[in-house]
Amino acid sequence: MDYVIKLTDISKEFKVLNRREGLMGSFKDILSRDYKIVHAVDKISLSVKQGEIVGFLGPNGAGKSTTIKMMTGVLEPSGGEILVNGRIPYKNRTKNSQEIGVVFGQRSQLWWSLPLIESFKLLKDIYQIPQKEYDEMMELYASLVNIEDLLHKPVRQMSLGQRTLSDILAAFLHNPKIVFLDEPTIGLDVAMKSKIRELIKELNKQRNTTVILTTHDMGDVDALCERIIIIDKGKMLYDNDIKHLRTFFGAYRTLKIRPAEKMSEVVVHLMDELNDLDVQISHDDEWISIVVNEEKIKTLKVLDRIQQTHRIKDMQLEEISTEDVIKKIYKEGVE
Ligand SMILES: Nc1ncnc2c1ncn2[C@@H]1O[C@H](COP(=O)(O)OP(=O)(O)OP(=O)(O)O)[C@@H](O)[C@H]1O
Ligand SMILES: [Mg+2]
Repeated sequence: MDYVIKLTDISKEFKVLNRREGLMGSFKDILSRDYKIVHAVDKISLSVKQGEIVGFLGPNGAGKSTTIKMMTGVLEPSGGEILVNGRIPYKNRTKNSQEIGVVFGQRSQLWWSLPLIESFKLLKDIYQIPQKEYDEMMELYASLVNIEDLLHKPVRQMSLGQRTLSDILAAFLHNPKIVFLDEPTIGLDVAMKSKIRELIKELNKQRNTTVILTTHDMGDVDALCERIIIIDKGKMLYDNDIKHLRTFFGAYRTLKIRPAEKMSEVVVHLMDELNDLDVQISHDDEWISIVVNEEKIKTLKVLDRIQQTHRIKDMQLEEISTEDVIKKIYKEGVE
């Protein structure tokens, strides 16, 4: 099998100084060499095929950005083997950068005071993009977004959303085999998020670009990823289809009810009445949500029990959401 990315037991350790307080502390720090080793990435193995969109997930500090930095050649691994497009990224940074694109959510890779079109022209020179391919790409962009609004604006005058859009277009411009997106939708409004997702999806489809996507927004995952990889504390937790994950946690359903009586009172009662059933209860102004593990008790039973003492105006039944599944994994891990 041909993989565009292959990591075998990849680790990254950082040596950090154990800092002491005060000026004397700083002197002692320098002299003592009292270091602590942080295992940011701990023996991770994974492989990715051309054209895949992989959601690379994990709680804050899990090691996602560190892993991406090793895949893009910014950091050298402390151990293990890494191949990106068949090359060792940190040893072949120039060659590697020809075949990858990178977007780091918070900071732009573009020339701050140049209009976007000028940045594109520079990238065209840097990557030696043939005129024909460049024109084709611009045509594709024009069909996907309102590019005229962006092209003549200096990046520093752009809104965060426009800048992110521009960064993504810039990352795909030289038609790389892989694009790494580290939290591309961070800080964006719902409309812009959905625009960005559409764009990524379409570029992946049109160019068969492999996309490695880091995000804390499960909306991104639902919209884009068939496969997810979850890491935590530098270690691999999960690597499989998102569908598989759902069946894995498929026993969980959320029963939503709208009570006829006063919300706050009903909630208090239910907490007590359903206490023995091992369900999780939460609510907003309108709905009470009860997460039920069907392996332990049927949702219908729970509903019966509620209706013995309460009147219900309305009800809904939901399968567990990606958001809830991921939350559970962050909390409990995978068996
Ligand atoms: N240059 C560095 N020096 C020392 N420690 C570092 C360095 N870079 C990262 N770390 C540590 O490595 C661990 C992983 O960090 P990383 O940035 O990869 O996490 P992340 O999964 O991207 O988190 P987030 O979701 O918050 O972006 C953290 O404990 C972090 O403090
Ligand atoms: Mg990060």
